[in-house]
Amino acid sequence: MTMREQNNQGGKLFIRTFGCQMNVHDSEQMTKLMEDAGYSLTGQAEDADVIIVNTCSVRAKPEQKVFSEVGRFRLLKEKKPQLVIVVAGCVAQEKGATMLAKLQFVDIVLGTHNIQELPSLVARAGEKAKPLVRTEFQERVESLGIIVAPAPKTTSAFVTIMQGCDNFCSYCIVPYVRGREQSRPLQEIIEEVACLAQAGIKEVTLLGQNVNSYGKGSNGNFVRLLQEINNVQGIERIRFTTSHPKDFSPEVIRCFAELEKVCEHIHLPFQSGSNRILAMMGRGYTREEYTEKIKTLRSLCPEIALSADVIVGFPTETEADFQDTLALMEEIKFDNLFSFKYSPRPSTRAWNFPDDVAALTKNDRLAALQKKQMAQTLANNKAREGKIEAVLVEGFAKKKNDLTGRTRDNRVVNFSGEEDLIGQTVPVRIRVGSQNSLQGELWRR
Ligand code: 5AD
Ligand code: SF4
Repeated sequence: MTMREQNNQGGKLFIRTFGCQMNVHDSEQMTKLMEDAGYSLTGQAEDADVIIVNTCSVRAKPEQKVFSEVGRFRLLKEKKPQLVIVVAGCVAQEKGATMLAKLQFVDIVLGTHNIQELPSLVARAGEKAKPLVRTEFQERVESLGIIVAPAPKTTSAFVTIMQGCDNFCSYCIVPYVRGREQSRPLQEIIEEVACLAQAGIKEVTLLGQNVNSYGKGSNGNFVRLLQEINNVQGIERIRFTTSHPKDFSPEVIRCFAELEKVCEHIHLPFQSGSNRILAMMGRGYTREEYTEKIKTLRSLCPEIALSADVIVGFPTETEADFQDTLALMEEIKFDNLFSFKYSPRPSTRAWNFPDDVAALTKNDRLAALQKKQMAQTLANNKAREGKIEAVLVEGFAKKKNDLTGRTRDNRVVNFSGEEDLIGQTVPVRIRVGSQNSLQGELWRR
């Protein structure tokens, strides 16, 4: 047994995660692998024997944060040379060994398809003089099958159903750092969901960069997956993200009306309200096609809540294009919107477009858009006042002694109640709708 293997027994792991839910779930899976190798989690980087920074490269800003975050650990490594520092995730995949020029003290660079190898690489890290770099894409991403047992008293869990993306939207780095679409076998997913239900999970969120194309080429597969999960005993709520408008078919839309466990909320990024910009983005739909799908969805499921992603300041975006985006918001009246300033990403097609919208203009457009959305979000939340909502109780609220949970349409509700309600779905009468949440009271007839 080497020194390193001995260290595996009872070592401490610190993990810091940037980015989307896929990264959060990858971190859960890395934690599980390391726990199986004898490690336990610590919230203190100073106490750790292994530090993992799981990174995001979707825009330049989170990418820059990675370098400062990892840089922070240099001092720790100087004090404790046996400390193993791992950079994982999308920046690791994108930059590979070139990261090491700036971060020479890093031991392991772990790409998005190589998570499975983490424990064996950590075990070998001390033996090698050179850092270990693993960023080869795999035909089958093995880590997709790692099942993470939920912590006690958790009500919700992520389940990856596919990863990667074949769309190559012109601004997006994801296909380059996550690879081509790969779907997990349906039976494997159903087994995982059944296993989670047995462990007490009530709500699953199906994850993938483009979940509607699960099974590739035939939306029927995604619908069948939803139907089968709808039949899993113990599961009460099904959510999924992210959907792509071009693959959001009438069959998937019907699931919101026909499958009782599919929650009344959809995150459907539109990115821009201008057809000219949508074409330059390579999104594969027009503004009219987008709004038509929302119309159909609302006619079948009037209670549906809508959220989306939008980009401002894409190359050549004029004031008129931006007004089209505001007009689309006005037409749809989204419940929530995640908005971003365009950020050129290497390898993408748009990298070669002129980044010609001035930084100040991008700022102004983002601020105007966010102001408009905040008013809409507040109005939509206020419209819930007086209603009785089924709330799945997730735990304690951050502030006060309240409990916190979510409505089926994904609004956060805080209310006062006993701890034993955690994990249950209870009726709550909404008293106040605020900007970020609803305040209510337990409804007793
Ligand atoms: N610049 C700005 N925003 C981007 N997104 C993806 N790539 C970029 C980029 N280069 C946004 C999109 C996507 C969300 C996850 O991030 O809106 O839906
Ligand atoms: Fe990126 Fe487009 Fe794929 Fe979404 S669908 S991950 S925006 S390339």
